Amino acid sequence: MNAAQPLSQPLVDLDTPLLKVNGLTRLYGPDKGCQAVDFELHPGEVLGIVGESGSGKSTLLGLLSGRCVPDRGAVAYRARGGAWVDLYAASEAERRTLLRTEWGFVEQNPRDGLRMGVSAGANIGERLMAQGDRHYGRLRQAGLDWLRQVEIDPARIDDRPTTFSGGMQQRLQIARNLVSGPRLVFMDEPTGGLDVSVQARLLDLLRGLVRELNLAVVIVTHDLAVARLLADRLMVMRRSRVVETGLTDQVLDDPQHAYTQLLVSSVLQP
Ligand SMILES: Nc1ncnc2c1ncn2[C@@H]1O[C@H](COP(=O)(O)OP(=O)(O)O)[C@@H](O)[C@H]1O
Ligand SMILES: [Mg+2]
Repeated sequence: MNAAQPLSQPLVDLDTPLLKVNGLTRLYGPDKGCQAVDFELHPGEVLGIVGESGSGKSTLLGLLSGRCVPDRGAVAYRARGGAWVDLYAASEAERRTLLRTEWGFVEQNPRDGLRMGVSAGANIGERLMAQGDRHYGRLRQAGLDWLRQVEIDPARIDDRPTTFSGGMQQRLQIARNLVSGPRLVFMDEPTGGLDVSVQARLLDLLRGLVRELNLAVVIVTHDLAVARLLADRLMVMRRSRVVETGLTDQVLDDPQHAYTQLLVSSVLQP
C-alpha cells in the first residue's frame, strides 16, 4: 500500500450523528413520562429502548419523532442536505414533511399505520405520491417491488389490508414506510401483537432490511430477545429515566444497574 495515497472518503459521514438529543423531558406526573434523556444516534445505527410497561418508552419515541413536544430539552436532526434541524423550533409543516420523507414510523398496531380502506399497492404508493411522484407506472412498480421485498405475493397488490393476516399487515406497514427511502425509522413494539412464529420471520426480515438499507432505527420493545437481535445499542428505562445504556451485548450479558439485572434475569426464568 502506498502511504502517500489518501484513503477514499466514505459516502456517508459516519462520525457525525444523525440525531442529537439533549435533556429531553416530558412528564405527565411524578416519574410518569420521560426525563433528562441524552443520546446521539449515528447513521445506520439501531438503538433499542427497553424497560417495563409504563417506563416511558412510547413517550420518548413520541418526542423523538416530533409527534409531541417536550416540557424541556431539544432534538437536533441532521437533514439529508447536511443542515441541522431543531425539531421543536421547526414548524408543524416541516415536522410533518420530515415524517413523510426522511423518517418512517412503524406502529405496533398495523391498523394505525396503514389505510385499511385502500389497496396494498395504494398504501405503498401513497408515500411516493406525498413526495410528488404521480407517475402511475412507477408507483405500481414500486408497489410490486416492495411487496416482494417484504415477502408478500405481488398478486395481492390490489387487495385491501383487511384481507391480510396480522403478520402480512405488519410487513405491508414496513414496506409503506421504507418505499420513500427514509434514513431514520422509529418503531414502537413492531412485533408486539404477533404470534411468536410470525414474530421470528418479521424480525429476520427487519434485520435484513435495516442492514441492507443502512437505516438508523430507534426501536421500542419490552422484549429483550427482539432487542438482542436488532439493536446495536440499548437504553434501559425505568420510571421515566434512563438507568443504563451501552452496547447491546454488554448490557444484556453484563448488566450494571440492579434494575437491568432484574430485567435480564426475569427473562431467563420460565
Ligand atoms: N398522554 C398521556 N397522558 C397522561 N399520562 C400519560 C400519557 N402518555 C403516557 N402517560 C403516562 O406516562 C407513563 C409512561 O407511559 P408510556 O410512555 O406509554 O410507557 P411505555 O411505553 O414504556 O409503556 C405512564 O405512567 C403513562 O400512564
Ligand atoms: Mg409503549
